[in-house]
Amino acid sequence: MGLLTGKSAAAAALGENGTYRHGNTHLIELRDVVKVYRSRAGEFQALKGVSLSVDAGEFVAVIGKSGSGKSTLINMITGIDRPTSGEIYVGDTAVHTLKERQMARWRGQQIGVVFQFYQLLPTLTCLANVMLPMDFCGMYSPRERQRRALELLDLVGVRDQAGKLPTALSGGQQQRVAIARALANDPPILVADEPTGNLEPATWTHRRQSRSSSFSSTSSTRGRPFSS
Ligand SMILES: Nc1ncnc2c1ncn2[C@@H]1O[C@H](COP(=O)(O)OP(=O)(O)O)[C@@H](O)[C@H]1O
Ligand SMILES: [Mg+2]
Repeated sequence: MGLLTGKSAAAAALGENGTYRHGNTHLIELRDVVKVYRSRAGEFQALKGVSLSVDAGEFVAVIGKSGSGKSTLINMITGIDRPTSGEIYVGDTAVHTLKERQMARWRGQQIGVVFQFYQLLPTLTCLANVMLPMDFCGMYSPRERQRRALELLDLVGVRDQAGKLPTALSGGQQQRVAIARALANDPPILVADEPTGNLEPATWTHRRQSRSSSFSSTSSTRGRPFSS
């Protein structure tokens, strides 16, 4: 997974004493988050007390083999699923306390999510998929939404696919549309699940050669792409 946090929007939310509303000092703070899946096969503890902090302006990558809990961790930060125990703070929001209705609006405005399998709506054109978050949250004027969606599709290199349904696109192209949709409301935080999973084979081979040692265990790497 990859996590990218913008500096300006997030910094503005910091209170005068350098903390957010619930006393958290980092933009994203996970405290002792446990996630247990219960199924007929029994219980499975996917997250065993994860504490993590990410500041505004940081780029964080979480690397680990499949099944190590990366998607589960993303679902905690984005509020798509709830922790069994523990606390999750994102800016001024205590995510683990939000009700379902509040959650959808909060996520729509604050977090852009690129899902592992894109989750584009199959009956909508790519353009309509990118406009959807803006429609849902009432961001930008209706006329501006289409212009903005086309600009974002252009940014990720698939503007010429705007009028097609997602199924008519390759996996990599669908991922680009999903990235454009995640950027639609200009959210301060961008979360992507397996963002390099659909790179063209040539690009992937090149990257794997330089990073193969990273894949043996879960680890996180940090950087500051927006250094100031
Ligand atoms: N809904 C679920 N019910 C039961 N077990 C699950 C569920 N989702 C994930 N798991 C289990 O939790 C573990 C972590 O899954 P996941 O977060 O998807 O890993 P990753 O994204 O790193 O591949 C896996 O062992 C998986 O089988
Ligand atoms: Mg996953």
